[in-house]
Amino acid sequence: MAETALRQHIALWRSVVRPDVRARIAADVERVTATGMFTGGPFTGRLEASVGAAFGRHAVAVRSGMDGMELLLETLCGRRRRVMVPGNCFASIPALAARFRAEVTAVPVEDVHLAVSPEVLRWPLDDRPVVVWIHHGGMVAAHAERTIAALRARGCTVVEDCAYVLADTRTPRGPGTWGDAALLSFAPTKPLSGPGGGAVLTADARLAQEITARRSHSGQEQRWAEGEVFLRNRAMGELDAVVAYHQWRDLDVKRQSLDEIAGTYLAEFARLGLDVLPHGRVPQPSWGRLCVDLGGAMSAVPARQALADRGIGGAVMFETPWFDYQGLAGCRPSLADDEQPWGELRALMGRTLLVPFHPALSPAECRAVADALSDVLGAGTEHHEGGRPTRTLSRVPHLPGRKSSSWSHP
Ligand SMILES: Cc1ncc(COP(=O)(O)O)c(C=O)c1O
Repeated sequence: MAETALRQHIALWRSVVRPDVRARIAADVERVTATGMFTGGPFTGRLEASVGAAFGRHAVAVRSGMDGMELLLETLCGRRRRVMVPGNCFASIPALAARFRAEVTAVPVEDVHLAVSPEVLRWPLDDRPVVVWIHHGGMVAAHAERTIAALRARGCTVVEDCAYVLADTRTPRGPGTWGDAALLSFAPTKPLSGPGGGAVLTADARLAQEITARRSHSGQEQRWAEGEVFLRNRAMGELDAVVAYHQWRDLDVKRQSLDEIAGTYLAEFARLGLDVLPHGRVPQPSWGRLCVDLGGAMSAVPARQALADRGIGGAVMFETPWFDYQGLAGCRPSLADDEQPWGELRALMGRTLLVPFHPALSPAECRAVADALSDVLGAGTEHHEGGRPTRTLSRVPHLPGRKSSSWSHP
């Protein structure tokens, strides 16, 4: 195995900039540098125009996805609204809401797309909270549009986190257009992959104006005088905008590569009899990550280590719900750990593993990852069906829809 580890290094994610895109970026970086217009230049404007047009929304470029989230929550939590955050979210989002002195509550997620469970509609929503809806790994739940619409009809404000969504400009009414606002990220680890930056999307012209004003810390004297607090510059840098703009224009090529890679994985999993995609988790053009569910075969943490030993990158999305962290202890739900739905959430998080998925992955590398995964899960038993060797895993089968009915509101 040591030899294999030396030979293989298959990264979880690689930022890919194709050669012709690279050449365009280089020429435009040269232009920007020559003018010295490092913020608020034409590329920021072009990026906003093309992203906005693709979604049929106002787009406001910001320094990062989290800056977009911060500006949105800062604007929306002004009246100390409650903020509902999926329990499997990275802790910085509830931390932001807590900083705006919002009451933060955790929301359970369903196990197919790791999206907010539609069961949330049975919870008390009379206080019209802000709901953060994360399309984890770019997975878009079939019920997402419907559930978001129902939440909004109940007076909630929904913020769609599309940081990992590979936008599909062929369907401008997709994720990112269902909530009151959405955010995109152009960070190196995200599917568009640039040095940084993000965008806030919204159909609400006043909200867009507010975010535009709030991203700058200068020219705010009047608002300071009125008692507002403006923290720091959160406008996108022009050089980041150059890369994001050209990467955005290359979106279709990226999507096609990732589509093919997802298809290759599917074939490899079928070849090995690897049942690691729950019923209903089928490849989507929006996927920016490949999240597998290890079922009962093995926990994600040791599985990630075992893949690493074989020279293959992996990640555990989050080992624990955000409310376990000391800094967020004040937001802890008033339910015992093993109570529904948190016991189910912990189990889901414990078996969710991210495996290599990026536009430069070759079919041979997909095959190597699938083989390694099969090896790691190891409980497989070789047998022959119709003369062809197959491998089955002794593991808990996925039972579609088995969870949601057991969830109750806190
Ligand atoms: C779900 C989610 N939203 C938002 C962000 C933040 O994006 P950025 O890195 O651009 O701040 C991340 C970062 O990984 C994320 O995982």
